[in-house]
Amino acid sequence: MNQCIRFEKVTKYYGEKKIVDDVSLSIDKGELVTVLGPSGSGKTTMLKMINGIVQPDSGSIYVYDQDVAKCDIVNLRRRIGYVVQETVLFPHLDIYHNISYVPSLIGISKSKTKRRVRDLVDMLQLDKSMLKRYCDELSGGEKQRIGIARALAASPEIMLMDEPFGALDPETRAILQDELLRIWKELNMTIFFITHDVSEAEKLGSRILVMNEGVLEDKVPAICVD
Ligand SMILES: Nc1ncnc2c1ncn2[C@@H]1O[C@H](COP(=O)(O)OP(=O)(O)O)[C@@H](O)[C@H]1O
Ligand SMILES: [Mg+2]
Repeated sequence: MNQCIRFEKVTKYYGEKKIVDDVSLSIDKGELVTVLGPSGSGKTTMLKMINGIVQPDSGSIYVYDQDVAKCDIVNLRRRIGYVVQETVLFPHLDIYHNISYVPSLIGISKSKTKRRVRDLVDMLQLDKSMLKRYCDELSGGEKQRIGIARALAASPEIMLMDEPFGALDPETRAILQDELLRIWKELNMTIFFITHDVSEAEKLGSRILVMNEGVLEDKVPAICVD
């Protein structure tokens, strides 16, 4: 089965306001879909419905053909990595233990976890000495790299990324974009990536969607007038 995430006529209200408006969408396994849209258009809400943080008022969301409303949510979230704009790390844990938190929690052995962290350090080209540091000893770019490593730690099949590079300077952002593309190709993951940066959406997305006032559309290519 090739379908990974499916929205079927999903609508979400906050109070009287329709935030997500009758969205239907299908994402295949291995796609990197970017979603563009102005602030307040419902992008984050759409993402939160995929891993069950927020429930739709009507319609259904399926992850690998499992209805999110009916499945075991803890199990589901283990298969989904989540990265937000400002990664929040546990301040009392060093970086190693921040990255290995979920693998430890779900009972993966110490030696396997250690190997996994080592692989992630290589994959994200992190300096090994960083693993002993604490989050207040990291730059914004380093924190986001750790956020990605942590989200990848339990080997998820899906990554939900909510403007993960939005607070970074252009140079760091470009480097992390390149790394994400490399990791995506290497791991053959499905990535749902929100941004409000058109060039980022175009650089990363194998498909670009646009969200506007809760309505989702395929991005129509710009028409050349000349
Ligand atoms: N928990 C909530 N309660 C009430 N309103 C909310 C809540 N979360 C988001 N909203 C509102 O829903 C709208 C869409 O929010 P959001 O999905 O975060 O948009 P985006 O990510 O596109 O900026 C905004 O108007 C926001 O204020
Ligand atoms: Mg948002």
